[in-house]
Amino acid sequence: MNFPVTRLRRLRRTSAMRSLVRETHLHPGALIYPLFVCPGEGVRKEISSMPGVFNLSIDEALKEAEACAALGLGGLLLFGLPSKKDEKASGAWADDGIVQQALQAIKKNRALDSLVTIADVCLCEYTSHGHCGVVSRDGDHYEIQNDSSVALIAKTAASLAKAGADVVAPSDMMDGRVEAIRIALDASGHEQTPVMSYASKFASAFYGPFREAADSAPQFGDRRSYQMDGANLREAMREIDQDIAEGADMLLMKPAMPYLDVIRTARERYDVPMGAYQVSGEYSMLHAAFQRGWLEPERAMMESLLSIRRAGADFIVTYFAKDAAKVLG
Ligand code: PBG
Repeated sequence: MNFPVTRLRRLRRTSAMRSLVRETHLHPGALIYPLFVCPGEGVRKEISSMPGVFNLSIDEALKEAEACAALGLGGLLLFGLPSKKDEKASGAWADDGIVQQALQAIKKNRALDSLVTIADVCLCEYTSHGHCGVVSRDGDHYEIQNDSSVALIAKTAASLAKAGADVVAPSDMMDGRVEAIRIALDASGHEQTPVMSYASKFASAFYGPFREAADSAPQFGDRRSYQMDGANLREAMREIDQDIAEGADMLLMKPAMPYLDVIRTARERYDVPMGAYQVSGEYSMLHAAFQRGWLEPERAMMESLLSIRRAGADFIVTYFAKDAAKVLG
């Protein structure tokens, strides 16, 4: 490999040459777009910290889904903003819950068959306290109960599968949820519905804007007793081992850009399909820089997505999905 025999710039001289030797590719079919569905009709309310992302009533969500299908996106990830919240997250597992209704409407529209509908399974958007599980309190002290939360999460997953979700994606980080979900799905005749587990989900500051979008900020405390410590790579692998052992069909790594090493390590270790979630804060911080003219929007967006693919993600959940698909043509 000695200069001047080896000149690496030979393969970079023209656009055609660079295209020929490119190692990593993006395509619209591997991009998933998150939708935040809310009650009402004709509602299209922009999230202040996420330009171009909206809370959508079901009729508007259907229009958005049609745009996603026309762009050739791979799928949708659905979140719900219920009209009422309570301590047991009733809206998460109700037959007429907001995401259940959205799924039924999407499944009726055959023009949307090319999209995989993925339902996020969590309680935080539906609990009055905003935590991802059941809370028990003793004076000032509170605990997020694991096993009673898992029971509600499994019930939620079965209800979403019944409403038409092609995939259920638990994002709560309770222990044992994948096994409980598998059992609940099989018991309700949904043995063909895959589980995509947010296996290693870190307690991250980058979820900030999402909590506005999904109205799911915890009313007290934080999520550090269930989501992972950002310092821990080995523990992330243990979480993945456990979820695969419990029956996870796919993994979703999250966040993406601040955790590319975790994605790479998981890619080398596991053969299951693996996606990564470029979360709300990653989108917001790039947009903030675009607004100030500090970064070139298209190039920065595509480079951020490419970095996630290069780290090893097969598919990417991203608020840039539509914009990137337009660039990819
Ligand atoms: C629900 C959930 C969250 C996100 C996805 N599912 C919020 C959280 O854990 O606080 C974050 C997604 C994003 O920031 O875009 N538990």
